[in-house]
Amino acid sequence: MSKPRLYSGMQPSADSLQIGNYIGALMQWRDLQLSYDAFFSVVDLHAITVAQDPEHLREKTRRTAAQYIAAGIEPSKSTLYVQSHVRAHAELAWILSTITGFGEAGRMTQFKDKSQRYGADATSVGLFTYPVLMAADILLYQTDIVPVGDDQKQHVELTRDLAERFNSRFGKTFTVPMPVIQQETARIYDLQNPTAKMSKSADSDAGVLWLLDDPAVSAKKVMRAVTDSEGSVRYDREAKPGVSNLLVIYAALTGRQIPSIEDEYAGRGYGDFKKGLAEVVVEEFGPVRARALELLDDPAELDRVLALNAAKADAVADRTLGDVYEKVGL
Ligand code: ADP
Ligand code: NA
Repeated sequence: MSKPRLYSGMQPSADSLQIGNYIGALMQWRDLQLSYDAFFSVVDLHAITVAQDPEHLREKTRRTAAQYIAAGIEPSKSTLYVQSHVRAHAELAWILSTITGFGEAGRMTQFKDKSQRYGADATSVGLFTYPVLMAADILLYQTDIVPVGDDQKQHVELTRDLAERFNSRFGKTFTVPMPVIQQETARIYDLQNPTAKMSKSADSDAGVLWLLDDPAVSAKKVMRAVTDSEGSVRYDREAKPGVSNLLVIYAALTGRQIPSIEDEYAGRGYGDFKKGLAEVVVEEFGPVRARALELLDDPAELDRVLALNAAKADAVADRTLGDVYEKVGL
């Protein structure tokens, strides 16, 4: 009676996650871990595709793992591990790169965007082959489903193509995974710039709610969120992106429907509404933050948990990799 398998991960690209990561990924992972055999990775090998300070990277990796746990990912239920602790990721990525077309990889829109932003000299080959490493991440675990944001959909499509290509060339080896694309209602925008996705790598963090921020700071950021001059608490993504974003956050964190929140604040100003949301945010993230800080206060225990989980992941990954070596003739 084995459960279907799920794989997902995030880059350790900042000291704290932001609430888009929480609402768009962690809350869903927390639910999904009940019905799937879930593997959640902190993908530090992906993070080094752009320059990193070594000590800071290690710290961000540990902090990201602590926030997974604090948000409710249970390392005794799910396999919660650091990507680089399992050597098979890099090894399988190499083998998959040999069946990936150069042109095929060149069609990845995320690479085109990023390489344009960084310029040719700051664009590494690793950034180019990033989607192949992601395919290895997923295929190593014989993954059935991959929850991702829609910006990663093309990478999961490539993963499926590579799995099918390998299977047809060398015999059935990989499960062909299905992407599960994040709902539009789970997408959170920057509080100061509500048409841009909230991101941990935003240029300014004035509109970013960090999971590990002091609750008073988060409350202040909510109170300062950009709205509009209409004055009514009403969901309309086009005409009222700021207010709509706040409504989505409110609904996601309380489990309430947006119309019921609109009703509650009908005839009241944005000040009241923001005060209500600030309370919701503080109530939700206060305990998450406290738990994360507690975990980070005991690095030896956190490292023990991560090592245990890496060993679990390694056992599964190694089986797939052994089969791949065998099939390829290595
Ligand atoms: P970031 O932009 O913060 O670096 P990533 O691109 O690393 O985030 O995404 C990590 C996970 O968090 C993905 O599952 C992604 O879909 C989700 N995510 C990131 N930002 C948001 C957001 N603003 N709203 C909803 N989900 C988000
Ligand atoms: Na990112």
